[in-house]
Order: sequence, then structure tokens, then C-alpha cells
Amino acid sequence: MLIRRPDPIKPSEITPRSAYLSRRQLIAGAAAWGMLPAGAALAGAFPNLRKSDYKVDEALTSQKDVTHYNNFYEFGLDKEDPSANAPGRLKTRPWTIEVGGECAKPGTIDIDSFLKDNTIEERIYRHRCVEAWSMVIPWAGVPLGEVLKRFEPNSNAKYVAFETLMNPAQMPGQRSGEFTWPYREGLRIDEAMHPLALLAVGLYGETLPEQNGAPIRLVVPWKYGFKGIKSIVRITFTPTQPRTLWNIYAPREYGFYSNVNPAVDHPRWSQAKEHRIGEFGRRPTLPFNGYADQVASLYSGMDLKQYF
Ligand code: MTE
Repeated sequence: MLIRRPDPIKPSEITPRSAYLSRRQLIAGAAAWGMLPAGAALAGAFPNLRKSDYKVDEALTSQKDVTHYNNFYEFGLDKEDPSANAPGRLKTRPWTIEVGGECAKPGTIDIDSFLKDNTIEERIYRHRCVEAWSMVIPWAGVPLGEVLKRFEPNSNAKYVAFETLMNPAQMPGQRSGEFTWPYREGLRIDEAMHPLALLAVGLYGETLPEQNGAPIRLVVPWKYGFKGIKSIVRITFTPTQPRTLWNIYAPREYGFYSNVNPAVDHPRWSQAKEHRIGEFGRRPTLPFNGYADQVASLYSGMDLKQYF
């Protein structure tokens, strides 16, 4: 029997629109200045956003920094380029992800149905970039493994490959031949199924801004940030290790695993410490970015200096 679920009541239906908007602006502003505890800015895009136990008890990076200090090479190489160039250029509707490869039920994810049909969780994760800076970000998303299981990967599915939109008209960076576009990333299937891996659709309780990878991107908190591929349009279950943009570009510098590891330096700089954006000085980098208890067992028996 099909039961139509009642739509959740939006705050806009019980509060006059003007009061509701100014309250949202107030909350967003306060959150940006770090005046609100984590989770307080939940009134935004996700009416049923559920706070989760996946959270680090560290000060959040300001919303301003999270959304204006970015890497998204399709929109330029400088940290300010994505926020200047992606909004207004990147069209995030309609948006679908094609899911296929080694699975019984290949199919399509439509972003609007995805947002309606899933419980969106807020998770506060450390975000460690390979360039030795870090942030703490309240993401909103759905565990990746829960989504992947619906496509019934088969026993040949040893890896999962991800691809960003290829559209040089919208993404000027893709007109340069420097990189092998589109941006590609990959995970081993057990990494992809790990409960920490998240498909993010928002941050700070709001819809993901274009510069952060709208409408949907990957977040793998124990790995360097470049594994967190943005604006995903394709997911493929593969029998062999997928090629990735950074590994094609500079294989000696960017390995497939890219687990955060203070003991393995990047060939051109140390990974022992990091600059937490918004703080003075540098803090020590933690193995697996502080998530070792949860993920180290995925790599038992592997030489992490060889498989960096
Ligand atoms: N995804 C795409 N498609 N293009 C990119 O250039 N940069 C990666 C990753 N995902 C990138 C991408 C890198 S290097 C990092 S550190 C993170 O996105 C940055 O995410 P943020 O801007 O939301 O902090």
C-alpha cells in the first residue's frame, strides 16, 4: 500500500515571512562569527536536519572562511576564485548522478528526490587539506555507504570511481589542458562503505554553496581534502583501482590512498603540522586526521609509507 507522507511544516508557514527571514539572517550571521554553538544554525535548507553523534568538539571554522577559502580548480587556482566564479556559473538544477558499473541495479539519482527521500544529518568533521591547512566544518549529508547499497554492488565491485561534471562552458578551468578533466576520484569499496564517508549536500545548515561543490560532493574526513570530489555526476563500481586527477597529474606527490599521515611528508613539504584556518600558529597533524580509532583497521597489514 502506498501512503503519502505529509510534508513537513516549514518555518515559513508558521512565522510571518519577514520575521522568518530576519531570524535566518540573524542565525547565519551569528554562526558566521562563531557566536552560536554547533548545530544552532539548523533552521535553513533542511527542515528535518538531524544532529548526529559524528562530531568533533573543536571550534567551528567561520562560515565565511569555509565558503571563501576553497579549492575548486574548475573555477580558478586561487583560494578566492571559486567563491568569485562558481556562483551564477555552475547550474545545479536539473542535476543527476548516474550510478553504474559492477552492480545489480544501476540507476540515476535525481538531486531533488534525493533531498526529499533521505534523512539529512549534520556531522562536524575535521577537514585537512594536503596543503597543510585545516578547518572544522558542520556538513549536512547522507552516509555514502547507505546510498551505494541501494544499487547492489556485486562481488567484482572492489572500488568506487567518482566524476565531477564536465562542462567547460560553465567551468572555465576545464578549458586549460593542464589537468586531465573531468576531476576524478576513487575509494576502495570498504572505504566507501565506512560509516564516516559522507555525501554532503549542505554546510552550516544551508544548501551547499557552488564553491563548496554544489549540489552534492564527497567528504572523507580521514583523507586529504582532495579526495572530497565536488559536484558529482557519475559513480561507477569498478573491479580495478580507478585513475584520479591528482594521481595522473603527479603520481609521486598524490597517491591513491591519501590518508592523512603526519609521518609521510609530501615530497615538497612536511605534513607533521597544519595551520587551522582562523588560528595562530600550527598544530600537530593527527594520524588519519584524528579518526584512527575508527578507520585504522581498514589498512591493517599495509605499509602506509608505500601506499600513501
Ligand atoms: N573537486 C573538484 N571537482 N575540483 C577540485 O579542484 N579540489 C579538492 C576537493 N574537491 C577539488 C575538488 C581539494 S584540493 C580540496 S582541499 C577540497 O575539495 C576543498 O574543499 P572546500 O573548498 O569545500 O574546502
